[in-house]
Amino acid sequence: MTLSMARQIVLAARPQGTPQLTDFRLEDTAIPTPAAGQLLLGVQYLSLDPYMRLLMDDRPSDATPLPLGEVMPGEAVAQVLTSHHPAYAAGDLVLAPTGWRTHALSDGTGLRQLDPAVAPVTTALGVLGMPGFTAYAGVRLIGTPRPRDTVVVAAASGPVGSLVGQLAQRAGARAVGIAGSAEKCAFVQDDLRFDAAVNHRAADFPAHLAAVCPNGIDVYVENVGGAIWQAVLPLLNQGARVPVCGLIAQYNGVGQGDGTDGLPATMRAILSKRLTLRGFIYHEFAEAHYPAFLREVGAGIATGRIRYREDIVDGLEQAPEAFIGLLEGRNFGKLIVRVDA
Ligand SMILES: NC(=O)c1ccc[n+]([C@@H]2O[C@H](COP(=O)([O-])OP(=O)(O)OC[C@H]3O[C@@H](n4cnc5c(N)ncnc54)[C@H](OP(=O)(O)O)[C@@H]3O)[C@@H](O)[C@H]2O)c1
Repeated sequence: MTLSMARQIVLAARPQGTPQLTDFRLEDTAIPTPAAGQLLLGVQYLSLDPYMRLLMDDRPSDATPLPLGEVMPGEAVAQVLTSHHPAYAAGDLVLAPTGWRTHALSDGTGLRQLDPAVAPVTTALGVLGMPGFTAYAGVRLIGTPRPRDTVVVAAASGPVGSLVGQLAQRAGARAVGIAGSAEKCAFVQDDLRFDAAVNHRAADFPAHLAAVCPNGIDVYVENVGGAIWQAVLPLLNQGARVPVCGLIAQYNGVGQGDGTDGLPATMRAILSKRLTLRGFIYHEFAEAHYPAFLREVGAGIATGRIRYREDIVDGLEQAPEAFIGLLEGRNFGKLIVRVDA
């Protein structure tokens, strides 16, 4: 279909909770004319992704808020309609950051040529695009599943989750998907061939999840947050890895509570600040690293370049009082009791 006008969808209002249709506005505009060095793109497929919800807000986040009245951003598969650019010809198919519009101008920045003979072009928006690579990064670079590990992912029928499970299986792990309906779960298990799938909307979801993870969870790729995280948490094994990829259950602001529950803010900070939280107990490293530690720090003490302070209390009988003081912060330096045996 050839349109005589271009159309675009802009952010009309900032959503309060779940976005409403009135938060968007459809506008007709003239089809733009490409200048020298520019392309006119006709959008064929527009990607809709959870992150867009975050751009609609103006609360603090690492995403720059979209100004009101601006075209909603997004990637699309588009056809080059007119080219004044040496690298592209009319008819070429490209992946382009067009936003929610029928036509867009481009100077070639951020474009990727697509070849429909290699894969259906829509895959550039999903399994072979940003969501697919997200799954790859989460599993291969952070989750690093080992053979026979249990890898769990929510939103398992979506583009990120569906590839997470399959990449986990390629590493020899068991893949368990969490999805929001019986139909989605059947797809995850029967078509995607995950080892198990659990419906988070069914009664007793935490018990079902525990039942399909009899050896606990070694990798949980966090896509959702909220109640799903609460069910996953007790099942995590020692040393489990949790790539925090998305928190869609929080994107509408639900779960922010009255501000006294810090968990949503904590999870959001982990994601947006790319925090690495990794618990450890020193002895897991002792065998491998204690000798090197003694060499380096011992040398530092000997030369005076490493400094330290001790708080020495005299007499074993002083130990209880000193210990209570330690818990109240009354010690100043490494608390030691000098015992005259
Ligand atoms: N970190 C990154 O670079 C990056 C990049 C891409 C995507 N992401 C994140 O990855 C996650 C998945 O993205 P996607 O593109 O693959 O999305 P998607 O699966 O196509 O769509 C989102 C799905 O999330 C689930 N969901 C929504 N609200 C939920 C809630 N309150 N509780 C439980 N589940 C809920 C729904 O599936 P069910 O019905 O099955 O629950 C929904 O279909 C999102 O959080 C996204 O923001 C992160």
